[in-house]
This record gives sequence, C-alpha cells and structure tokens, in this order.
Amino acid sequence: MRVLVVGSGGREHALAWAISASPLVDQLFCAPGNAGIAEEAECIAIGATDVGGLVRFCHNQRIDFVVVGPEAPLVLGLVDALEAEGIAAFGPSAAASAIEASKGFAKDLFVRARIPTAAYRRFRDPAAAKAFIASHGAPIVVKADGLAAGKGVVVAADLDTAYRAVDAALVERRFSSAGLEIVVEDFLAGEEASFHALVDGKNALPLASAQDHKRVGDGDIGPNTGGMGAFSPSPLLTPAVEGMVMERIILPAVAAMQREGRVFKGVLYAGLMLTAEGPMLLEFNARFGDPECQVLMMRLMSDPLPALIAAHDGVLKSVDLRWHADSAVCVVMAANGYPGEPQRGGEIRGLETAVSDPKVKIFHAGTRRDNQRLIADGGRVLGVTALGGDIAVARDRAYAAVDRIDWRDGFCRRDIGER
Ligand code: AMP
Ligand code: GLY
Repeated sequence: MRVLVVGSGGREHALAWAISASPLVDQLFCAPGNAGIAEEAECIAIGATDVGGLVRFCHNQRIDFVVVGPEAPLVLGLVDALEAEGIAAFGPSAAASAIEASKGFAKDLFVRARIPTAAYRRFRDPAAAKAFIASHGAPIVVKADGLAAGKGVVVAADLDTAYRAVDAALVERRFSSAGLEIVVEDFLAGEEASFHALVDGKNALPLASAQDHKRVGDGDIGPNTGGMGAFSPSPLLTPAVEGMVMERIILPAVAAMQREGRVFKGVLYAGLMLTAEGPMLLEFNARFGDPECQVLMMRLMSDPLPALIAAHDGVLKSVDLRWHADSAVCVVMAANGYPGEPQRGGEIRGLETAVSDPKVKIFHAGTRRDNQRLIADGGRVLGVTALGGDIAVARDRAYAAVDRIDWRDGFCRRDIGER
C-alpha cells in the first residue's frame, strides 16, 4: 500500500514510525512532516490544512490510505474530500468532527445520549451568561465553543474570574469565531484521565490507557499546554473503570452519532473526570492525544495499519490489538517561551547518543534540518519516549536520554509519570 500520514507533530511521528513497520506498506509519505518523520517517511511540502493540495497529491501519487493526525484538517473536511475522490482515509468526516469542534454541539449530544457530564448552559449574550454565573456561584467553568488550541477553557474559582472569561470570549472576541458562543458548566471534582478508542461507525475498540500532563511546570503549575508528557498505562483506568467508560460514555456516543447522521469513524479520545459518582465526560477529541499517541504507539505490539483500515471499513469487530506489558513514558522537550511564543532556530545535538538505548525512541514534534544540523522549530520540539518494566524504570530511561541531549533553548518537566 501507498500510505500518507497528515500532520507534523510528535503524534504524527509516532503514527508514521508505527505504520512504517507494517509489512503492508510499500511507500509511506507524510505531509508536511518534520526532520524526525523524514527518517520514517518521505516528507511532502503540503500543509496539513491544504485540503485541495492533499487531495491532488493523493490522486497523483495513487495513495491507498490516508491517516489524518490533527483536528484542523478533519474539521475542514479533508476526509470528506478524499472519500469523494475514492481515497480511503482514517478519521472522522467534518460533520462527525463537530464532537470536538463545537463544545455546545457536543454537550447537547451528551445529554441526548444520556452520557454523564457536567450540567451546563450555552450562551452568546455576555449579560445573560454573567447573570447565570451570579445565580450559580463559583467554582464554575467557562469554555469557548470552538477550537482554541487548549486555551479556551477557564476553571474559575471565583465570580470575577468567570466574568472575565465571559468577556474574553464574547466581548473581546479573543478566540474570534471559535468564541462567539460559550458553554458555562458545573465544576467537577476528581482525578482526570483520558481514554482512547478506535471507532468504526458502530463498534469501538478501547486502546491501552494513557494520561498526559497538561500544565507547563513541575507539580502541575503554570499555564495549560498541549501536553508536556504522558505515560501508559494509567493506574486510574482499572478494568472496572474502563468497562464503565465503554458502556456509559463511548458506546452511547457512537450510537448517538450514527442515529444523527454523523457516523463517527476514527479515534475518539475522551477527557474524563473520575468523580465519586463514577466517570464523567469533560470532552471528546476526534483524534489521538499528543503526546498520548507517542506512549500508545511505543506499547503497541500489533501492526496499527490493519486496525486503522478496519475502523475505516466498519469491521473493527474482527480486530484485536496486542500491547507490551511494559510501561511507557514520554517526556516533552519544549522551546523556552512555550506555551507562549517559543524561541526558534537553536541547534539540537546529541540525539544519536540519546537513542543508543534500544528502549528509547525520540519523536520529533517541531524540528527541521538545516544542511546536517537539527534545528528547533516549534513550541513542543521533541518527545523523548522510553519503555520499562514499570513507569519508574521507563521514566528513568527517558530522563537519562533527555540528559544526553544538548539543546540550550529547551526545557522539560522533571516529574512526568510521577503522579
Ligand atoms: P477540556 O478542553 O474541556 O478538556 O478542558 C480543559 C481542562 O479544563 C480539563 O482537562 C480539566 O482540567 C478542566 N476542566 C474542564 N471542564 C471541567 C469541569 N467541568 N470541572 C473541572 N475541571 C474542568
Ligand atoms: N494531550 C492533549 C491533547 O492532545 O489534546
């Protein structure tokens, strides 16, 4: 098969790396890719959101299967455009991606599907939102409706913070069209966990458990990021919890999407709050988590490609995935400044010695080559990932590799996997 992976982050490097080992693959491409992905696939200079360019490339290159990594091209209808040309693609249609792209749509769907979630109201008018917040009291959570790169959610401990979040979205238009509407919801107390399942429209296959660390600083302080690290498995997702999540959250959502003509195929990534009353759904993403995907691909023993194709073909029932008993830890190395404006252009050295341990794999998230030199070119730059007999062993291996990397402008959290 001729396969294309779309995207340029650590998630796409992990997908490309796992897919490149498939005996089904004759040639693997990635658009646009990065310096690390270039070691697994032929990188093509087409942006992940250039739907027309990607469709033309797939047509000209007779691509058999496309794996879409990030949410932006899904929401723009890349999978719809490919399928219209007869090109098979893994990922939801634009209509089904609304489960991530509109929090208002998603919350209404959760209620129609009787999925446990925080009580909420949707608002476009700031005065009405503030009146509701005043009558409700704090703590309370304010969310921009649309995609806001992880910056659209404010967990407000007091009323003033909540009012400011309302103004930021509805008055100052800080999220432009993604924040014309907001969701205001109850604060849920508990432990957070995430849950991934492959979905083929009707059936769902749970993946190994994983958890990420969203805050930028050690001890979970500072601003939210896309994720500063991840580990798998997650001790919170016991078989009993997994069973509840499948029965109460994943399968009802898949059935509701099918009933409502938004058949979901791809990967559903649920953000959960494990509360005293059981798991509750914070949100769905319509793609793999990044860096959760890195630890999942590290632990996956099976060839991922037949599973992704089965999700597309609606035959997931026949698929069984095997996972290493080992744990995996991914430490993200980010550029100084991240999650704000990152410092770009610094040279990274020492990767060859860092990967001399066969249980370590370094996934690139934001790198490019300048002649032979490896250059930092993004916020999250590397995902140093290791396997080990337990989380502590994997973590020590990952940090030993981190310490062999010579990059002046980067930083990482030192407590990944300690939670
Ligand atoms: P979301 O993008 O909806 O997953 O929200 C981002 C983060 O905000 C989550 O990972 C939680 O830490 C927090 N959060 C979102 N909704 C709630 C809620 N209802 N109660 C408490 N924390 C929340
Ligand atoms: N790691 C969080 C996310 O991918 O949304």
